[in-house]
Amino acid sequence: MNIGIFGTGVVAQSLAPGIARLRHSVMIGTRNPAELMERGTPAQGTQKTFAEWSRAHSEIKLGAFAEAARFAELLINATSGGASLEALKQAGEENLRGKILIDASNPLDFSKGFPPTLLVKDTDSLGEQIQRAFPSVKVVKSLNTVNAAVMTAPKSVGGGEHTLFLCGNDAEAKAKVSEFLRALGWADLIDLGDISGSRGMEMYLPLWLRLWGALGTPMLNVKVVRG
Ligand SMILES: NC(=O)c1ccc[n+]([C@@H]2O[C@H](COP(=O)([O-])OP(=O)(O)OC[C@H]3O[C@@H](n4cnc5c(N)ncnc54)[C@H](OP(=O)(O)O)[C@@H]3O)[C@@H](O)[C@H]2O)c1
Repeated sequence: MNIGIFGTGVVAQSLAPGIARLRHSVMIGTRNPAELMERGTPAQGTQKTFAEWSRAHSEIKLGAFAEAARFAELLINATSGGASLEALKQAGEENLRGKILIDASNPLDFSKGFPPTLLVKDTDSLGEQIQRAFPSVKVVKSLNTVNAAVMTAPKSVGGGEHTLFLCGNDAEAKAKVSEFLRALGWADLIDLGDISGSRGMEMYLPLWLRLWGALGTPMLNVKVVRG
C-alpha cells in the first residue's frame, strides 16, 4: 500500500522505516522539500539532519504535503499540533478526499516552556478540529499516546503487553487502521468510539509527560486491565 506521512520530525522518521519494513511504499510530506534538504540542524529528538537521514533511508520518498497526499492510499498526520490544520490545508482537500488519516498529533503549546499546555481541550480536540475542517476525510486518532520509538516497535516496551487507543467516526476506517496497527505489532487495541474520543487521548499527554519524568525514560506505556 502507498502510505503518506505528513511530517519530518522524530515521529515521521521513526514511522517511515518501520512502515516500509512491512513492504509498504512510504512518502514523507513537508512544506518545501528543497528547503528541508538544505536544513543544517536535526529535528528535535533526532541526531542527523534530514538530508543525512534521507540518504540512510533511500527507500523513503519525499514530497510536498500535496504530493504525499496524492501518492497515498493511507495517510498519517505527524505534524506539529499547532500547525496540523495548516499542513493539511497545504496537502489540499482534493488530494485528501475520502482517504483515511491516522492522526498521531498532539495539540501541545510550548510557547511558555516545559511542560507544555494544550491548545485545545475539555470540550474539543485537535482530532475533532481536523475532522470538522476536512469532513470527507476519515480521521482515526491513534498513536499519539506513545513515544515515536514505540509506535512501530511496541515489543520494545514490556514485550508489547500494553494498550493503544483509537477513535473515529467511520467504523470501516477504524477496522482498516486496526489491521494496520496489528501489523505493526499492536495486540491490545481499544476503540474509544467516535472522534470526540480524541479529547481524552490528547488530555492524557500531561500524565504521559509526568510518567516520562518519574520513570526517566519515554519508553513506557499503559496497559488497560479489564475486570
Ligand atoms: N515526539 C514523540 O515521540 C511524539 C509522540 C506522539 C505524538 N507526537 C506528536 O506527533 C507530532 C509530530 O511530532 P514531531 O516531534 O515528530 O514533529 P514536530 O516538530 O512536532 O512537527 C514537525 C512537522 O510539523 C510541520 N510544521 C511545523 N510548522 C508548520 C507550519 N507552520 N505549517 C505546516 N507545517 C508545519 C513541519 O513541517 P516541515 O517538514 O516543513 O518543517 C514538520 O513536518 C506532534 O503533533 C507531536 O505532538 C509526538
